[in-house]
Amino acid sequence: MKKIAILTSGGDAPGMNAAIRAVVRTALHNGIEVMGVERGFYGLINGELKPMDRNSVSDIVHKGGTILKTARLETFKDRAVQEKAAQVLRIFGIEGLVVVGGDGSFHGAAKLSELGINTIGIPGTIDNDLAYTDFTLGFDTAVDTVVEAINKLKDTSASHERCSIVEVMGRHCGDIALYAGIAGGAELVVVPEKPYSVNDVVKLILEGRSRDKHHYLIVMAEGVGGAKEMAEEIEEVTGLETRITVLGHIQRGGSPSSADRILAAKFGHRAVELLMEGKTSRVVGIRDNHIIDMDIHEALAMENVFDEKLLTIAQEIS
Ligand code: ADP
Ligand code: F6P
Repeated sequence: MKKIAILTSGGDAPGMNAAIRAVVRTALHNGIEVMGVERGFYGLINGELKPMDRNSVSDIVHKGGTILKTARLETFKDRAVQEKAAQVLRIFGIEGLVVVGGDGSFHGAAKLSELGINTIGIPGTIDNDLAYTDFTLGFDTAVDTVVEAINKLKDTSASHERCSIVEVMGRHCGDIALYAGIAGGAELVVVPEKPYSVNDVVKLILEGRSRDKHHYLIVMAEGVGGAKEMAEEIEEVTGLETRITVLGHIQRGGSPSSADRILAAKFGHRAVELLMEGKTSRVVGIRDNHIIDMDIHEALAMENVFDEKLLTIAQEIS
């Protein structure tokens, strides 16, 4: 293996830069040239590749976002576009490609590997929605960001004796809500994996009133929907003033946590090792605190198993 490339794709996630750094430095350490592809699959088909040296990844380990930029390209689902990408990689003499991204990006990576490109995936998404790995890059930092916001919301909702509903990202996955809800001491966590009833929420508030509790923090995953309807119902039935905060893209930014930086270092290092071992069509991950790798198609076929136990803990200690 003499030359590899790396790209970041889909929604950016804190820790992507640390992963780029780890891949570039591990490759250079082993005498492999690296090219950075800008703007994900979009940049790839347009030949937006640039050589990366040690200095090009200096001072980025602590930065959010991705220095390679990212993009979404719907047409990458077309065979002809995938073939063009494979052709560009061959023209540049690339023998291995590292794709940092989420589920969608991994589908693109799988297609490239089917076209004969040695491809390795690194899970980079705040959503933590990839079943084969316990954690994805960016999740830990996003949870910290939400907890920081919850701390602030609690101050104001306690002072005004209000209910605060905070809507967090995660697409169809409730992990950000669940982890941040526990860490932030929320009264209630609502996730798409578990049906909920507004009546139960109202009941919780009315029961709390009998214990002289007058402020609430509810964390709702965006995949649930209906925050406005829930707020209206709470106000109408309990009379408790209710406000909604949608945290939005703030959750995607910021300096990565130490945990995400370390994970990025391990993932990046292993990805290059796999390419050097001649492996292809694999994704790296972490399970039970061990770095693992598995076939990309198998990984994508796995169904997310929701952590019921953690939700029970959230409910019982709220
Ligand atoms: P993420 O990787 O964070 O899940 P997206 O779902 O937006 O983000 O996917 C990122 C990109 O991956 C898409 O814009 C597209 O270029 C590519 N992609 C997604 N799904 C597929 C697919 N089924 N086949 C090929 N490429 C895909
Ligand atoms: O996949 C990451 C994510 O931030 C999701 O949590 C969210 O639903 C989506 O991307 C938002 O996408 P966009 O940046 O296109 O608004």
